[in-house]
Amino acid sequence: MIDAHEILVRCDALARESSDPNGIERVYLSPELAAVNRRAGEWMKEAGLTTWLDAAGNQRGRLEGREPGLPAVLLGSHLDTVPNAGRFDGILGVMLAIAVVERLRESAAELPFALEIAAFADEEGTRFGTALLGSRALAGTWDDAFWHLTDDSGTTLREAFVEFGLDPERIADASPKRGEIVAYLEAHIEQGPYLEEADLPLAVVSSIAGARRFALTLTGEAGHAGGVPFHRRHDALAGASEVVLAVEQLARSAGCVATVGRLQAFPGGVNVIPGRVEFSLDLRGETDAARDGVWLGIQAVASEVCDRRGLAFAVEETHSAPAVVADPSLQDSIRAGIRTATGEQDPMVLFSKAGHDAMAVAELAPWAMLFIRNGHGGISHHPNETVTEADVAVALDAFEAAVRGLAASQTA
Ligand code: GLV
Ligand code: MN
Ligand code: MN
Repeated sequence: MIDAHEILVRCDALARESSDPNGIERVYLSPELAAVNRRAGEWMKEAGLTTWLDAAGNQRGRLEGREPGLPAVLLGSHLDTVPNAGRFDGILGVMLAIAVVERLRESAAELPFALEIAAFADEEGTRFGTALLGSRALAGTWDDAFWHLTDDSGTTLREAFVEFGLDPERIADASPKRGEIVAYLEAHIEQGPYLEEADLPLAVVSSIAGARRFALTLTGEAGHAGGVPFHRRHDALAGASEVVLAVEQLARSAGCVATVGRLQAFPGGVNVIPGRVEFSLDLRGETDAARDGVWLGIQAVASEVCDRRGLAFAVEETHSAPAVVADPSLQDSIRAGIRTATGEQDPMVLFSKAGHDAMAVAELAPWAMLFIRNGHGGISHHPNETVTEADVAVALDAFEAAVRGLAASQTA
């Protein structure tokens, strides 16, 4: 049986499949993703699942229940990463799902549903800027506009599909028919400090923040750093700096979170006034209304800065996902699972500011999530991401108990 120790060994093994020799980076439709899909597929087979790579590059598996062809409970998370990633964000959830199915294999003949696993291929959006591409394909919410997305080297998503061996015309095949998936359960590291602060290993997720991402450009005029006096300058970087500070201040005062994670000045000479700045914006709020209010405020500041400095502001929205609330009865299944595994009678409930595949799967099926404490204040999207073997062990027990409880409630 796969235990917590083996799960950590597997997370370590997958960490070695990276395009970054000094860290972990594994993006959508890359050779590294193909390699981890293969490994995860082998582990799924060993756990008793039949496996396939779906039309969007997600590694999938299925174990039949008490009769073939029953609607399925889907377990999953993602195998892609951000740049310079840790080894557990997404990966741990996939490894836990495989271990849970292995534990349930013996009793599969009594299960009132099939069990499926999805190891999603693009939760982060690192390569094409738009997140949740793998889970949106599964949820049946693929947008044909995605085909024109490009990566940093100019490769379109359509071209990348073909290079990976996928047929863009078959994308709809990734999505099960409505009713074929009756529930989606995801286990994931918390990526925040609250479990650690409360000295608890596990929590139930109540909802996931609505997120929007933008590619922003400010255009001014490049010129000689010595020759152009201040009153004649249109410095795009000085303007962008004002906008970046406003992003932080506006989000903070509205109880939202916002991040400019990437910023590049052009032409980028030490003695050249920046004529153009391209920067990203990631904006999240507990409600879509709060988040969208901050975006209106940011646009107002950008417009005032542009008028004053003689700059132009261009906006491209690269990602949008509404806030989603976990299904109350599935939250109860996770809560009961935590109770069984830890004895904690009133498990902690957390709202997730990080995005998850569950946001996309929410369009297809009711969902719930289990959060697992990660150390050092919950640091994530960072190589220092860490979990303890003891926490993984109780997470495995809780996830298994949640699925067994669901089966018992459907059989009763
Ligand atoms: C995914 O990790 C996200 O929340 O950006
Ligand atoms: Mn992440
Ligand atoms: Mn994740």
